[in-house]
Amino acid sequence: MKFLLIGPPGGGKGTQAKKLSSKFNIPQISTGDMLRDHVKKLSELGRKAKKFMDNGELVPDELILQMMKKKLSSDECINGYILDGFPRTLPQAEGLNILLNEIGSNLNKVIVIEVSDDIIVDRMGGRRVHKNSGRIYHIKFNPPKNEGFDDITNEPLSIRSDDKKETVKNRLNVYHDLTKPLISFYDKNQILLTVNGEDSIENVYSNIIENL
Ligand code: AP5
Ligand code: MG
Repeated sequence: MKFLLIGPPGGGKGTQAKKLSSKFNIPQISTGDMLRDHVKKLSELGRKAKKFMDNGELVPDELILQMMKKKLSSDECINGYILDGFPRTLPQAEGLNILLNEIGSNLNKVIVIEVSDDIIVDRMGGRRVHKNSGRIYHIKFNPPKNEGFDDITNEPLSIRSDDKKETVKNRLNVYHDLTKPLISFYDKNQILLTVNGEDSIENVYSNIIENL
């Protein structure tokens, strides 16, 4: 199975991708997580990407396409994947189409998670993450067993550096301008599934599963 998740920053893409990944036993391919890893390792890509990420801007398409071409052609992706955060511009979607054509494959479903801007701003303030695994929590909606600590490793949780209010506002603008047009791009293929992302985490998940 090959899924793609589209949704605003903080819309719940990562949360749902992790659940779908364990249900279908396919990897979650999050460009955000991959880029944060590059930033941490101080790789050349990480150094180039950091300034865009810190400002809530998109990393240039050619860098993303290069990174994803390598990833999607790797053995890890041979049985399918869940794309979380890629593509998020029309040139990236066109690049993905070319890549899928080359390997004789296509997407099974494009899942759009809809959440309004005011709910997003509220949600982002409460997000906590476990840096090494990418596990995602929320102080109110998905709290860890011990406040401030990861459920599995018991290591401290952190706040993502781009979750500051001003950066979130910019990320939302970028989403409306550059990523939302992908919804009509994929609508042509009739593989869209739109879910109400304002519902609880469990309800969003069952809605996706029931309609896949
Ligand atoms: P990325 O990491 O992809 O960030 P994003 O798209 O802004 O989305 P988030 O990860 O912030 O949110 P999410 O939808 O995964 O929500 P989550 O499940 O965590 O990208 C970061 C940056 O990298 C970009 O700004 C850009 O610079 C760069 N980048 C990445 N990909 C790129 C690309 N393709 N091209 C160019 N640049 C790229 O949930 C959020 C919170 O809400 C959590 O606390 C969670 O517990 C909670 N929550 C989730 N669902 C619910 C629910 N239903 N009800 C209540 N709370 C919920
Ligand atoms: Mg995410």
